[in-house]
Amino acid sequence: MTRNKYGDIFLSAKSLTREFGYGDNKTIAVNDVDFEFHRGEIVSIVGESGSGKTTLAKMVLGLLKPTKGEIFFEGKPRDISSYTKRRQYWQTIQAIFQDPFSTYNIFNRVDSVLLDCIRLQGLKNIGKEEEIKKMKAACEFVNLKFEELSNKYPFELSGGQMQRLMIARIFMLHPGLLIADEPTSMIDACSRATILDMLLKLRDEINMTIVFITHDIGLAYYISDTVYIMEKGIIVERGTADEAILHPKSDYTKRLLGDVPKIYEPWDFSRNKEKAV
Ligand SMILES: Nc1ncnc2c1ncn2[C@@H]1O[C@H](COP(=O)(O)OP(=O)(O)OP(=O)(O)O)[C@@H](O)[C@H]1O
Ligand SMILES: [Mg+2]
Repeated sequence: MTRNKYGDIFLSAKSLTREFGYGDNKTIAVNDVDFEFHRGEIVSIVGESGSGKTTLAKMVLGLLKPTKGEIFFEGKPRDISSYTKRRQYWQTIQAIFQDPFSTYNIFNRVDSVLLDCIRLQGLKNIGKEEEIKKMKAACEFVNLKFEELSNKYPFELSGGQMQRLMIARIFMLHPGLLIADEPTSMIDACSRATILDMLLKLRDEINMTIVFITHDIGLAYYISDTVYIMEKGIIVERGTADEAILHPKSDYTKRLLGDVPKIYEPWDFSRNKEKAV
């Protein structure tokens, strides 16, 4: 297996393609994409609306079939053909989405959302006391009080609390890879920084790979080791955060950088980067 400074390749893809529709209505949402995500690596996928980011994420999650190409999991062709194999895969690959509501069954209270995580890990009959201990620890990690929230429904939580609950789930599930699809676009700047810091802390603690999907090239620079820039289904730029954002080769990346407010000058990027590590 190839190694770099992050670790082994955890998940990769060759010529991944997804088309929607036929004839004149055909859209190639993801077009011949290759990637390698290493253990413990934070990768950002940046692109404008409609560039294919969520479609790519759904293929990685196994929620959408590729039209062409293949995904490799720990070096072998991924096999999620049976229910058991899919379940195993979903213990390892988890996602959080822009709209927290889409993640929760709104009729499940907070405690059953968290209990589900214990069940998903295959931990049965560990006893009520141990279950509560685990749920409390997860809430503590994200600065939520389990006692205050356990009987609430997701719609009774604030946007920030809901996103933190999602991270508490990730803390319990310990996935190898987390796809975060615009997880901070619906919350205020202060909560956004907290969420990002929690994700970075999780990466440090469990060497999780994070694939961060965003429109925001400044945010991508701040948190990532590696950046992929996507335009109309194609990866037009790929490299370390410094290579892709401070020394971009593609006109598309240059244009994206041109659209970024003045506050994100290269020297701001460098300063943030130092803070982030
Ligand atoms: N189920 C679908 N059926 C038909 N077309 C689809 C479907 N899902 C996505 N598309 C099309 O594929 C393209 C890529 O969509 P996708 O949702 O992946 O973009 P995105 O980069 O996630 O955008 P955003 O930043 O707005 O979330 C778009 O042109 C979209 O209309
Ligand atoms: Mg999307």
